[in-house]
Amino acid sequence: MGIVGSTLASTSAESLVTAGLSGLSGIVLSNSMKGDATPGGLPLQGRRVAVVKLNLTRYSLPMNCAERLVEMFGTQADVARAFHLDRAVVHNWVKTGYVPARWAGEVERVTTGRISALEVINEASAKNPVRVKSRPEHVPFGLNDESDPMSQYAPSKRIQSFHPPQRTLMGPGPTEIHPRVLTTMSQPAIGYLDPVFVEMMEELKSLLRYVYQTKNALTFPLSGPGSVGMEYCFVNMVAPGDKVIVCQNGVFGGRMLENAIRCGGTPVVVEDKWGDPVDPQKVEDALKKNKEAKIVAFVHGETSTGAQSDAKALTQIAHKHGAMVIVDAVTTLGGTAVKVDEWEIDAIYSASQKCLSCTPGLSPVSFSERVVEHVKKRKDKIHSWFMDMNLLFNYWNAGTRTYHHTAPTNSLFALHEALLLIREEGLENAWARAMRHHLALKAGLEAMGMSFLVKEQYRLPQMNAVRCPEGVNEAEVRKTLLNEFGIEIGAGLGPLAGKVWRIGLMGYSCRPDNVMLCLSALGSVLSDMGLPVHVGDAEAAAHGAYAQMHVKDAQRKKRAA
Ligand SMILES: Cc1ncc(COP(=O)(O)O)c(C=O)c1O
Repeated sequence: MGIVGSTLASTSAESLVTAGLSGLSGIVLSNSMKGDATPGGLPLQGRRVAVVKLNLTRYSLPMNCAERLVEMFGTQADVARAFHLDRAVVHNWVKTGYVPARWAGEVERVTTGRISALEVINEASAKNPVRVKSRPEHVPFGLNDESDPMSQYAPSKRIQSFHPPQRTLMGPGPTEIHPRVLTTMSQPAIGYLDPVFVEMMEELKSLLRYVYQTKNALTFPLSGPGSVGMEYCFVNMVAPGDKVIVCQNGVFGGRMLENAIRCGGTPVVVEDKWGDPVDPQKVEDALKKNKEAKIVAFVHGETSTGAQSDAKALTQIAHKHGAMVIVDAVTTLGGTAVKVDEWEIDAIYSASQKCLSCTPGLSPVSFSERVVEHVKKRKDKIHSWFMDMNLLFNYWNAGTRTYHHTAPTNSLFALHEALLLIREEGLENAWARAMRHHLALKAGLEAMGMSFLVKEQYRLPQMNAVRCPEGVNEAEVRKTLLNEFGIEIGAGLGPLAGKVWRIGLMGYSCRPDNVMLCLSALGSVLSDMGLPVHVGDAEAAAHGAYAQMHVKDAQRKKRAA
């Protein structure tokens, strides 16, 4: 028996045979609904031939997520069982051709990632875009009711619901957000004193202790961005007249200086070149000259330059001279090693939108016992009510929880999920991932003739500052990347404006597909602008770097076995 004229995959043809069509001289698979196909032009007379009519256009369409679920689990009833749902719900998914976005996280979990949450969300938003009509279609502006006095304040433009485009975020933050985090964020609201929320907060604090590698009791997320974390440290720790050594080697050291001044402190600035790390010797010299200095403040990873300073060495020097440290770990936490207890860091803050890959607006902070005692002993009132450690402690402490401010509950759900993802991946694996993709990105950028601002040993893998090629309109390059490829990379700040690009590999954005897309798009844009860049060289170099890393990994595994 032969199977002829088939344009289907062989498995489909085989299944037809096993389905009882054996013994025939030939099976004609036809996508003509008239069934008039001949088997490859062979004469049919005198032979038993089954003509199987197929509408092949149906088979050429990719399956939607609902259909894939049914294929994966067997029947709609099996899908319903796997999701603990009524069959009618699954039937409706299949009938409408999509799985509603609210099920995205669950689909990814139940299918162990074979269908990603993002696929579900994208398909659902394409099939059923959210449309909120603020007013009837035929009325162009507001209620158009002259008797309604409030209409005069209505916007003059017709406003629709906001739907941001899908971007590849490879700048200095914010980063892309894992679908699990987005799904968690859209869970129903609950009160901030609800026992369920209180329990979640305790878990959140323990997850933060894990990423900070600390046992500090006072470790919690402040409601506000990284700048709030910075201000919280200064406002609690610096009393008017206190001498503060502030290290400045980029934008954020400058912001620390501003904070020290605004708290009434007397700052002593230790300056280093933008792109260099903080020089421990200069800090030691400053402490020797200013024996009454109580605090040394520095940025662990300068986002404006991509330089990493030695937080452990700087802390040791400060302690040797009796000072405490305030450390900015906004860009480093979750991307490179931050070991609060081992390095004996006194006060540290970070932000949710960098390597933690959560939505912006939360700032995890941690104070050691020494700092807590220092703040409690202050005779003057802390100059900020909102950031007063003593008041916040009563809110974040499970035993004494009382109202302080309305916590951003859904953002906190999201941070809980983002930290859980890091816990599941393993902190060291997250650091290794940043390094791995940095090495591939570096190989690609160098293949296009670009060089790094920071010396290799001080480079942050998650924040790559590269010099823009001579003669290129750097703003035009970033604009084209965004408009044509949907990729965002960062511009240079301050003295580096127009001179560098800052390419981030933070959190969920730190992935091989992003590295390859970024290199490919950059190569294409630069060569289009007439630069001597050979399209494809960067990708080849990055693939080469990945291959070398695979070989090394395999060798390491073999040695360990
Ligand atoms: C090192 C550093 N510190 C502080 C901040 C301020 O954080 P935010 O913008 O969340 O207020 C940033 C922001 O990029 C940063 O990179």
